[in-house]
Order: sequence, then C-alpha cells, then structure tokens
Amino acid sequence: MSRTDPAGERLAGLRQRLQGLAYGGDYNPEQWPAGTWREDVRLMREAGVNLVTVGVFSWGLLEPRPGVFDFGRLDEVMDLLAEAGVGVDLATPTAAPPSWLAHEHPQTLPVDAEGRKIAFGARLHFCPSSPVYRYHAARITERLAERYAGHPALAMWHVGNEYVGFGCHCPVSVAHFRRWLADRYGTVDALNDAWGTAFWGQRYDSFDHVGTPAARSRLVSGPNPGQLLDFARFSDTASLECFTAERDIIRRHTPGLPVTTNFMGSFKHLDYWRWAAAEDVVSLDIYAKPYDPEGQLLAAYNFDLMRSLRGGRPWLMLESATGNNLTGGRNSARPAGQLRVRSLQAVARGADSVMFFQWRASRAGAERFHSAMVPHGGTRTRTWREVVALGRDVARLADLVGGSCDPADVAMLWDWENWWALEAPDHPSGDLRFTARILDHYRPLWHANIPVDFAHPHADLSRYRLVIVPNLYLVDDAGADNLTAYVRGGGHLLMSYFSGIVDQHDRVRPGGHPGAFRDLLGIDIDELNPLQIGEAYELHHAGHAGTATDWQDVILLNGAEQLAAYTAGEQKGQPAATRHRFGTGTATYLGTSPDPGTMRRLVLDCATGAGVTPVMDTPDGVEAVRRRAADGTDHLFLLNHTTEEATVDLDPALPWSVDLLNGQAAVADRLRLPPFGAVVLSAER
Ligand code: GLA
Repeated sequence: MSRTDPAGERLAGLRQRLQGLAYGGDYNPEQWPAGTWREDVRLMREAGVNLVTVGVFSWGLLEPRPGVFDFGRLDEVMDLLAEAGVGVDLATPTAAPPSWLAHEHPQTLPVDAEGRKIAFGARLHFCPSSPVYRYHAARITERLAERYAGHPALAMWHVGNEYVGFGCHCPVSVAHFRRWLADRYGTVDALNDAWGTAFWGQRYDSFDHVGTPAARSRLVSGPNPGQLLDFARFSDTASLECFTAERDIIRRHTPGLPVTTNFMGSFKHLDYWRWAAAEDVVSLDIYAKPYDPEGQLLAAYNFDLMRSLRGGRPWLMLESATGNNLTGGRNSARPAGQLRVRSLQAVARGADSVMFFQWRASRAGAERFHSAMVPHGGTRTRTWREVVALGRDVARLADLVGGSCDPADVAMLWDWENWWALEAPDHPSGDLRFTARILDHYRPLWHANIPVDFAHPHADLSRYRLVIVPNLYLVDDAGADNLTAYVRGGGHLLMSYFSGIVDQHDRVRPGGHPGAFRDLLGIDIDELNPLQIGEAYELHHAGHAGTATDWQDVILLNGAEQLAAYTAGEQKGQPAATRHRFGTGTATYLGTSPDPGTMRRLVLDCATGAGVTPVMDTPDGVEAVRRRAADGTDHLFLLNHTTEEATVDLDPALPWSVDLLNGQAAVADRLRLPPFGAVVLSAER
C-alpha cells in the first residue's frame, strides 16, 4: 500500500477501526419498532458483531415523497450503533426505488426483451439508462453522504444491492445503446463489419436504425450474434455507470472511506473484472446450499474468484446464510455445526469478514422464512448459540485481517465476454455451460487441496506453473497472443474443446478450428462434433479406460502427440486428448468431456507435470488451505465438511504450532477433526 493506492489506504482505515475481521450482517431496523433496536444492539454486542450493513432497502422510508426527506429513524439507529461501537456499512437505497417514482415516472420501469414493462412490487425495478432514475438515485445518495459524512458509526459504503445488469429494452435504453455503439464503432460501416450484417442482408445505414436484440419469440429465426454480445456489454456498462455515479458522489463527501457493491460470485451478467477495478474492495454474497453435497466446492470456487478479482487482495463476505436460503423448492435447515466450518472457509480463502443476510429475521415480506442471525425464535434457538460461538471464533482470527493467500501455482482463465458468447444461441451444441466446464476442471484441484486463482485472458500469467483454459470459445488477438507467449516461455497449458473459435465480435476465426490456437496446440479440428444425449464412447488415457460424452472433436495431429485415444466408435484410434511441445512449454488439449475419473487424472497429471504441489493430503471432504496473517505468519486451515470424524496427519517437518481457535499451544502430528470440525494452525514465529 502506498500513496498511489487509495483503495489500500481506505481499507487500512477500516481495518484499524474494526481491529479484527468484520462480523455481522444486513440490519434492517426500519422493519421493527424502535423498542427492538436497543435489544438488537445489546445482542450484537453479545455476539461480537462489529459491522452491520444498514439501509439497503430504505429509500421509500427515507424519501416518502419526492424531495421530502425523513432521516429521523436512521439518525437514531446510527447513533445507537455508534454508542455500541458497531460500525456501519451504509447502503445507498437505490436497488429499490420508492412507489412514487414508479407511479409518477413510469418510464423508469425497465422493459424486458419480450417488450413487457417490469412492475413495481419487488425490487430492482429500474431502467439503468433512465436519466430520471439516475437523477433521483443521485439525489438520495447526495443527501445520505452529506448527512452521515463524519458520523462516528460510518465505516464504509455499500452502493445499491446486487446489480444484475438488467438488459432493458425501453426507448431510453435503445437510444443509449445507439450512442454506446456509435462511441464504440465510430462509423456504421465498422458496426456492419463487426456484426457481419451482410448475412441475411441485415446491413444498417444509420445507428438510428439499430435496436436492442429482440427476444427469440419476436424473431422468425436466430438473432445476430454480434448484436447480442454488444448488448450484453452495453447492459453491463449501463449498470456500472449507475454504480460509479453514486460512488463519485460518496467520494466527494467521504474520500477516506471504502466503497463497495455486493457481487453474486459466478454471476453471468456483469463483468466483475471491470466492476472490481471500480470499487475499493470486492464483496460477495454467497448462498451455497447447506444440503448440496458440493456446496463447499461451489463456495470455494466463488471465494477464489472474488480473491482473484483484485489480484489476491482480501475481500469481504458481506452476505451468507446462517441457515436456509429461499432458493425455491425445499429449503432445508442447515445441519447443526455446519455454519462454523462454512464461515471459516471464506476466511481461509481470503475473506476479511463473516457476514450474513440478515441480522434479525423479517416478520413480513417475501423473505420472512429466510434464516437470520436472530431467528424468529430469538436467543432460544440453536442458530443463535452458533452465531455467538462463531463470533468468538472470528475474534480469535483477528491477526489474519489484511493478510493474503499465497498466489496459487494454477490459474484458470475466466472471461465474462466469453461466457456471454459461449451460451448464446445457434452453436453446434445448445448445452454448453460455462460454469459447468469451469467446475469440471476445478473439482479435481479442490479435492486435491491445490490452490487456484482465476485470471483474465490478458493477465500476466508468467508466475503460474499451469494455466487451465476451459471452453475459451471467444478470445481476442491479445488474449490469444498472451496464452501463446505464456507457453512459448515455458508455461504449461491445459485447454478444453470449443476454444479459440471466434474473435471479439463472435466471428469465426478463418482457416479452420481451433483458429486462435492451431499453432499453439499443434492440431487441426476437422469437425466440431457434439454427441447426442446418451451417446458415449470408450477412451483410453494413461493406462485407464474412461468414457467420453457430450462432445467429440475430430482431431488431426499437426505437430502434437496423442495423449488419450478413443477405443470404440467411428473415432476409434483417434485422439481424445493431445499434447504439444511449443517453445519451452507444453500445451495439452482435451477434445471431449470425459468421465470424472479421467478428468481427475488428466488435470492432476497436468498439475504434477507442471511441478504443482498440493497444500497437503487430507481425507476426502477435509479441505486444507493456507493463508497468511498481515505480518506474514503462515496459517493452515483444516476444515472437515463431512458429518464423520476425520483424521489428518500433519507433516512433522512443518512448523504448525498453535490452534488459534482453541488457543492451545501445541498440536500433535495427528489431528482428529470432529464432524464439521475446524482448526486454524498458526506457524511458529
Ligand atoms: C441477496 C440480497 C439480500 C437478500 C438475500 C437473501 O443476497 O442482497 O437482500 O435478498 O439475497 O436471499
């Protein structure tokens, strides 16, 4: 951190104030009579809460009529929290505009691709391009910022809530889209070229003739892929403009306080690389289901993604659930004891906070059955007891604040533009799913305790031993050159099918597939060949038989060697995976979707070949992660996600000496972890 790192300075201020990890949650006192607030503050102290997010959905109460403000209730709450020493992450309430805005200015309501206007009655009912919405959002933000700047409770800012990048099709958005296109392309001929409008004679004569892409139900056949992709980019930008406008107002009043907006992890419609660069600290809402057998794996990859968005800096877990989350269907309770291990998992992977939605369960409204730190049953509940105990654990980890995880040796490429393009219509297969392919590659590494960072295709990859590239369908020249240079310089690459196919406009790269990577991979793909559902072929890899499903590239070797081959079907004897020595590195290519065993062997072989080593071996379901304290002291988290006791053997040569959670000074070489048990071992100093 230095003078040239204002975000770092703002966070240092927050750390100084909290003196430990942040612990708390969303606090919505406006849903309760004032009598409850004192009780809330007393219980917050009992639980060790030091930060609460306030005001997220309070616009209709703070500004009951246009331009008429009532801050009385919020003043009182801020004062109470200040007295109790609880910091406030103050939200601008702009994710839920008041009913008068929708009523008096119906043009602020967004319109979906089918042409339907979204109604008032839930939240997020605003068109991000609407100047009327933006005017009113700026006004309430200005009023809040000027009123609470300098308030002793104010610790940081939370802009809006879970922006979604709503792709709005109202006339104001159409006009905004045209301006955005004119800025991007300069001339309409450049747009025609990028979108390939010679196809079906879609040529435009003026930007004024261009619309937002209509829903498939309003078209006779498939939409223009370039138009779809640019609309996704535009919609992301329109929401980001709303965020930065509020951020800039806040900065004028409180230049020293951090500003964030809460992300939804592996969420499709916002390019969080861009968003992370626009805020001071990345923050996450995570709702991995308690009863999902892969819940901890899904949480881990979201945590790794958040940590990666700002180059490994600590991030904030702003929302998670003490129990169930209302995701539809049957929302089972969290098993007793799981809350602690799932919360510590975030800290292990770089979070400087453990926070929840929400502090006190709502009596009314759509989320009245969502779990909370104070459930409807209050302090008599098991959840409350676990929340209080967790507060004590979190306090014991204060030294970790500001400390980072060591950079991983493995990077996995993650590009939102590729995600948008990959899942667009009219592809050889309609079943390609970006996150499913990411997880297929991430899963074996997580089970083996091998740390992973995520990286943008343009990132400096030189410090990674292995770079994994699942389904990089869209890649621009800079990204392709970056990967090529990485391998030429000695890097190891594992790439899977349907990669390098199109440029940044979703136009097929000329000369055959995999256009951007033919030389790097030393192969040509004669046919892109999705398999029918239920169609499966045996393959052979490293002495093991496996099965190929979903996709089967017809690969011609052109310098690469065969690494795995089909042993049945039309492709019998032909390559399922290849390896190419290129420069001083290697590029491995997987032309199918193999069974989990083959996938595990292939990914781990690539890791071993690249010199990657795991944190340590643990029984399945026990996660081992290392994170440093701010002073550089190493820590080992051992997290038992299972309902069985587990035994972990520690390497006696390593320096682990103190379990921070129970304060005991020495640990044995063999640890017993009870069901959902966790230890955090600190290295000897
Ligand atoms: C999100 C929102 C919260 C709440 C929770 C629980 O994370 O930010 O307002 O709705 O989900 O579902």
